[in-house]
Formats: sequence, C-alpha cells, structure tokens
Amino acid sequence: MAVPNPQAQIHIRTYANTCPPRHENARAVAVTVGSLTVTPVLQSGGSSFGAEVAGIDWAKPIPEDQVKQLITLQDRYAVLIFRGTGLDNARHIAFSQQLGEKLEINPFFYGRENDRLGEPLLFDVGNIELDSSLVKPDSRRWHHSLGNALWHTDSSYHQQRSKYSILLSHGNPVYGGSWTHFADTRRAYADLPAEKKAELEDLIVEHDLWHSRKLASPLIYGNPLPHELAAKPPAFHRLVQVGPDGRKTLYLAAHAKRIVGWSLEDSQTLIWQLIEHCTREEYVFSMEWLGAGDMVWWDNRQCMHRANPYTEQMTARDVRRSTIIDDGREAFGVKV
Ligand code: OGA
Ligand code: MN
Repeated sequence: MAVPNPQAQIHIRTYANTCPPRHENARAVAVTVGSLTVTPVLQSGGSSFGAEVAGIDWAKPIPEDQVKQLITLQDRYAVLIFRGTGLDNARHIAFSQQLGEKLEINPFFYGRENDRLGEPLLFDVGNIELDSSLVKPDSRRWHHSLGNALWHTDSSYHQQRSKYSILLSHGNPVYGGSWTHFADTRRAYADLPAEKKAELEDLIVEHDLWHSRKLASPLIYGNPLPHELAAKPPAFHRLVQVGPDGRKTLYLAAHAKRIVGWSLEDSQTLIWQLIEHCTREEYVFSMEWLGAGDMVWWDNRQCMHRANPYTEQMTARDVRRSTIIDDGREAFGVKV
C-alpha cells in the first residue's frame, strides 16, 4: 500500500510572477485638476480606478489645500501613483502624517535588530536583508512575504484597521517582475446581481493574518509560533461597506478566514468566490515600478492589492510602506 504523502494534500495558494495583459479600457487621457495632471488608469462607464498624478512639488512640505485636493482624488480613484518623488524616509512619513492622525507601528517581525530601516513607522516589504544580501529562498521571511502575493487589504486583521498605505521605492530599478496589482472592489460589488448583494449585506468576516500566511505557505505557517499568534489576534469587520466616495464596496482580503456563524469550509468557498470575482481582468490593473522615488498610495477600504511573489531572479527591491490608521465610521469594525 502506498504511504500517503502529507505534503501532496497541502494546497498552496499563489500566483505567477507576471503582469496580466492591459485591459482595453486602460486608456490614458490626462485631465487637469488645478495644478495637477491626473491620468486615470482604468475607466469604464462612470467608474474610474487608479490614476497617475503629476504636478506635485515633493521637495517642499505639501500645502494643506493640496492635501485636501489629493484626498478628493483618492476617494474617487482609490489608487494614486506618483513617479520620481525623490522622497526620503522622513518626508514619506511626514506626508503620511498629513493624511491621518496615527501611523501603524511596525511590530518588527524579524526582530528590531534585523530591521534594515530601523524606523518603526515604516515597513520594509522589500527583499533585502540587513547585510544587503537578498532574502534567502525558504527563509521564514521569504515564506512570510508569499502571503503578500495573495490578494489582500493591509491590516484588515486589526480591529482598528488602516485606511491608507503608501509604498515608496528606493534604489535601483528592479528586474524580474516588480509590479503591484490592484483590484477595484467597488465596481466588482456594483456588478453583483441583486440577490447576491442581499445575501452578503449583513455578513461579518473574521480576518486573521495567520490565515493568509498559511494559505501561501502551509508548510512554514501551518502552525505559527506562539509569539506570532499573540502579536496578531483576529479581528472582525463587515463584508459590505460604504467607501469614502459613498459607493458600496466589498471589504475582503486573503486574511478573511471565516464568516461569523458559518463553517470554515463554507466561509472559504464564499470568500474565494468573491475574491475571484473582484479580481476579474476588467477590475484589475498592474502598476509597474520604474525607478527610485516611485510611490503608490492606495485606500484599503475600497480596493485590494497584491505583490508579485519574489523569485530568485528578482534583483534588489527596496520598497518601504507607511500605513495610516483609519479614523472613519467603520474604523473599529464589529464587536462579536
Ligand atoms: C504592501 C504590499 C505590495 C508590493 O506593502 O502592503 O502588499 O508590491 N506590497 O510589494
Ligand atoms: Mn499589502
């Protein structure tokens, strides 16, 4: 009798390191908004998703009226891309602090002594170690980063979740597939049939960081370490929410583990059906990282995103993220 191989039954969720073909809707027609030039990325009917914004003088602090203007654009497009900003850590943080009272503090997953940036308000999501070598395949950090390549929103596993993330690149251009992919959960929600919307309206979802780590790397994160579990307990949020521009949206992520009151299996079936729906080609675009200073600011409340999985072919990728804690109506989720 054949001895069953336990690994054969383990399902690893992942995506290829590729950039999907550009959808035909991706037509770049720039519009002028005050002193800014705004080039939408994905447009369909009355809906716009993603925009590249030029015309900001990043060398100086951003004036408050321009911050307001940018927030209005952000509410509408959900993802704003800026090229060649030239920002350093301090200016990255200063701009982030203009967008909300509190920034997330990095829990230093790999130990403070191993944190290359040494800056608690920034998350090092790149592939570079303290000694400048690239993250080793099969290290714990490598496996942790695999979860970032699944569709998610940042920090949905926090009971006080985060509204914005701002990812800034440093260093040389990256070779080997440096894209970040974005999906419009507002348009995806709007396109659902009315019966489906009614079925989803009151559902509450348990989000757990360790769930997404396990899906991406069951062999390493099948059983997270006790201090990891203690550092990130699960959180609960409504599935259907009203985004900052007043449109309904699906608040979803690979962290989404269970629908409250449902079995794990039924929960995962629905959650992944919805993630697959939200990430159909017509709702998705991919931002290519072109060089140092490129920066993307997204709204976790009205889109999902994912990284390309790191590969051994990818060159050094130095990307640093600030995360702005939510202070809006749904910031604290649901008590269960
Ligand atoms: C993140 C993230 C995507 C990327 O920093 O939250 O998901 O492309 N990054 O690195
Ligand atoms: Mn992320």
